[in-house]
Amino acid sequence: MCGIVGYTGSQSAITPLIEGLRRLEYRGYDSAGIALGTPGRLYIEKRAGKLANLEAALGDSVPTAHSGIGHTRWATHGGPTDRNAHPHVDNEGKLAVIHNGIIENYTQLRADLLSRGHRFESDTDTESVAHLLSDLRKSHNGDLAAAMREAVKSLRGSFTLLAIHADNPDVIVGVRRNSPLVVGLGDGENFLASDVAAFIDYTKRAVELGQDEVVTITSEGIEITNLDGAKLAPKEYEITWDSSAAQKGGFHHFMLKEIFEQPKAVADTLLGRLNERNQIVLDELHLTKEEVQDLKKIVVLACGTAYHAGMVAKYAIEKWAKITVEVELASEFRYRDSVIDNQTLVIAISQSGETMDTLMALRHAKEAGARVLAVCNTNSSTIPRESDAVLYTHAGPEIAVASTKAFLTQVIAVYLIGLYLAQVRGVMSDVEVKNLFNEMVELPGKIEQILETVEPLRELTRGFASSTSVLFLGRNVGFPVALEGALKLKELAYMHAEGFAGGELKHGPIALIEEGTPVIAILPIGHEHGLDEKMLSNIQEVKARGARIIVIAQEGAEVAGAEHIIRIPVAPALLQPILATVPLQVFAYEMAVTRGNDVDQPRNLAKSVTVE
Ligand code: M6R
Repeated sequence: MCGIVGYTGSQSAITPLIEGLRRLEYRGYDSAGIALGTPGRLYIEKRAGKLANLEAALGDSVPTAHSGIGHTRWATHGGPTDRNAHPHVDNEGKLAVIHNGIIENYTQLRADLLSRGHRFESDTDTESVAHLLSDLRKSHNGDLAAAMREAVKSLRGSFTLLAIHADNPDVIVGVRRNSPLVVGLGDGENFLASDVAAFIDYTKRAVELGQDEVVTITSEGIEITNLDGAKLAPKEYEITWDSSAAQKGGFHHFMLKEIFEQPKAVADTLLGRLNERNQIVLDELHLTKEEVQDLKKIVVLACGTAYHAGMVAKYAIEKWAKITVEVELASEFRYRDSVIDNQTLVIAISQSGETMDTLMALRHAKEAGARVLAVCNTNSSTIPRESDAVLYTHAGPEIAVASTKAFLTQVIAVYLIGLYLAQVRGVMSDVEVKNLFNEMVELPGKIEQILETVEPLRELTRGFASSTSVLFLGRNVGFPVALEGALKLKELAYMHAEGFAGGELKHGPIALIEEGTPVIAILPIGHEHGLDEKMLSNIQEVKARGARIIVIAQEGAEVAGAEHIIRIPVAPALLQPILATVPLQVFAYEMAVTRGNDVDQPRNLAKSVTVE
């Protein structure tokens, strides 16, 4: 939920720290702060609000230091104020700590520390760690790593912590539990960060840290230990993301850039997935033919937009592979007595791979004996690491808080899983699978077509900017698309927006319609159950009550009663979400711009939700 960066090396630390924070600001932007390793006493600056406020406060008079830590915050304990901003320091001002996550037993810790004479300056859970470490460092003869190992044993909750001390300022110590931390290996310099994006301009060599591992970095090297102090061999890997992928590349906002990257993201996710024998290639699933045959059900666990991808999975996998699919909000599943066993395949979908609700649900499913497959976009993040198998999507880095290309690639991934299972179970012939796969290969070109003709939609959107509420209607796979359209509008435009299944309209939601209410209807594609006609009836029902109707319809479909029609290319019915979602993303984007909102960093949100 917060962004963390640490640097030690030959260059002036302020540059990599501020650049790193800029790359991590998507994780939280309630406040930002740094501690520089100036000998004797640390140089600390922190400010409520965005990174720009910190930069303004720093001005040109920052002392030269060759190490430091930086933090960008999404507030949990304590409001988004200057004094609650990280770093937090001990009472001597010599030891500074930054933190992502929640220290669940901080109340007790704080009471103990107060009784030992420590003074607190903030309302945060984090500050107690600074005081605790300060005491422990003294009892460990100035060994900050040893102090960290001992401190962590008494902490409960989820955390990444970085600490620096003025007496040994070139040393930075970090630890992680249920929260991300990666090491960047440079030449005469080393980095720590929540996400490789923070140091990708400096090095492509990274090391992943396991649960409860403590890392010490200096300019010369790194050392990793477990909590007992035993040394561990670093697990190095190469970062394949390009640094330019994390820049805006001429677009006004990351979100718009990411919308326009969708054709490539979809194509990349499909690459190499059908072999010359017309079989879907998903070796990463590591399931034997017998295990696939024996599967009793699939449970999809996810949050937010990823949950909507899971809903699409239900329609596709049940239709193609004839396996029952349940889709659960990860935050609900975790605290329910769900019936799962070793014949259940759990699919955990997450762009970041760090969403705490999904991680907790995954662990719960594993304890119950289920096999867990992660569908994830972020290499070596926690969710894939804790799963039995992982299918990576190839969306590339998604920086905007609102998920766009990650969603489309998640949907592609679940289509691939559906076709694979259908083929292995013998429910679909190789020819049927090949035909559908070939239709999927056409999708990137069709998304491009939508994006090339998006200007009239942007203009149309501006005309609805003063509306107070927008409703979205869908049926079948159009229902999750409606939910996704509404979620995008809520998070970006701060408007009341709801998605409904068309059939549910008459069971309550129609009461929301008043003169002028915008309703966006996703017209099902010539569906076998005549759902397109049923949706046309829904359109008439809301129109009769004064709604202004925008219909998303495929080329050639007859649409009566709509004030505006947004055409999308023809595709098989179950693949429609890949196309129908795109205009809704553009609608939400344009609405946010028109209403003057911060598109890439909407209020109260963060990209990666690493707290429950
Ligand atoms: O990283 P994840 O896919 O696990 O994130 C799940 C949700 O937090 C995320 O999809 C969220 O709903 C997006 N901001 C929506 O645009």
